[in-house]
Amino acid sequence: MLKGKKIVLGITGSIAAYKSCLIIRELVKRGAEVQVVITPAGKEFITPITLSALTQKPVISDFFSQRDGTWHSHVALGLWADAMLIAPCTASTLGKMANGIADNMLITTYLSMKAPVFIAPAMDLDMYAHPTTQQNMERLKGFGNHIIEPQSGFLASGLEGKGRMEDPEKIVAALDMFFEKKDLLGKHIMITAGPTYEKIDPVRFIGNYSSGKMGFALAEECACRGAEVTLIAGPVNVQCTMNNVQRIDVESCQQMHDAAIENFPQMDAAILCAAVADFRPAEVAGQKIKRVGQTMDIHLVPNPDIAAELGRMKRADQVMVGFALETNDEQQNAQHKLEKKNLDFIVLNSLRNEGTCFKSDENQVSIISRDAKHDYEKKPKADVARDIIDELAARL
Ligand code: CTP
Repeated sequence: MLKGKKIVLGITGSIAAYKSCLIIRELVKRGAEVQVVITPAGKEFITPITLSALTQKPVISDFFSQRDGTWHSHVALGLWADAMLIAPCTASTLGKMANGIADNMLITTYLSMKAPVFIAPAMDLDMYAHPTTQQNMERLKGFGNHIIEPQSGFLASGLEGKGRMEDPEKIVAALDMFFEKKDLLGKHIMITAGPTYEKIDPVRFIGNYSSGKMGFALAEECACRGAEVTLIAGPVNVQCTMNNVQRIDVESCQQMHDAAIENFPQMDAAILCAAVADFRPAEVAGQKIKRVGQTMDIHLVPNPDIAAELGRMKRADQVMVGFALETNDEQQNAQHKLEKKNLDFIVLNSLRNEGTCFKSDENQVSIISRDAKHDYEKKPKADVARDIIDELAARL
């Protein structure tokens, strides 16, 4: 679960500094964003150019940028990060961290850090075994830092291999484990996603611009957190590769309705994210309709309201989440839908927020429940999904 996580990677002056390239590669591969902060001694072992090429970000090492004198804020970094990893961490840096000796950018960043800190020590065995180093590490653990080191070796002293930095993949795996949230383990969640197509004739339909991206992001977030997901998808061009997502492809509202009604009783929660057509042609022409006359009328009849029907079936132990896409009187309309469809909360999307909603990779929403309203910033749909699922998980 490092996807989207912001990691400050501190690099210090150890021969193991070259391995930080492997750490960055692994973090980036898992979807993390990495900002390197390097000590002056660290730069003797690895060049900032290599590091910035891997992270796609300038490396921070001084309080001021040497080019334009811009001030680097360690406080801002402390707020930005989801975690700080110091790898390799020398005995000297350990000592400074344990005692608050803030004489370089890495230590000031550490002291301002609001996120959890992970330390991978790297030094020779004598330095590692010295009581000063041992004491500093104990102190840092006492402050809530996480020390990542190889498991103890096989010699009687138990120190064999100690001091050596843990393997890059194992360091990243330790971070990954920390972030892995399995709060939905054992839960069954049904999600409707995408548009519906309502057939007019064999080649035409009534549809809408929904891409399904939001629904799929929700499915992925639930699956990552351990849930078994039933994803009922209208015609979309997105994929979901997680094996605890069972996908049911449908086209029309009626098909989506049938699949939802059949599956809902087995679910702990349902998220109705699909943009469902409210009406469908009364009749579907068996053959392609020809161009005749100056105008053409299609008579429409109402489709079932899937959310409202599920709302009526809902048991006390089930949670239901709806979406509302509005262009005006947003809050009032959303509140009305919350009541009408017996939802536990509703996610409000406003078409007034530019660059959100349909087709976009970003979204800006408000979450409205019976007793609260929370407005979120515009963010990638994966992050919006996390906010929504946090709200859902709290009710399960
Ligand atoms: N919904 C549904 N079945 C429908 C219509 C809507 O399940 N036939 C669900 C949507 O997935 C969403 C919620 O109901 O979670 C609100 O959808 P929306 O289209 O905004 O609401 P409508 O009830 O159709 O109201 P209106 O179109 O009048 O705004």
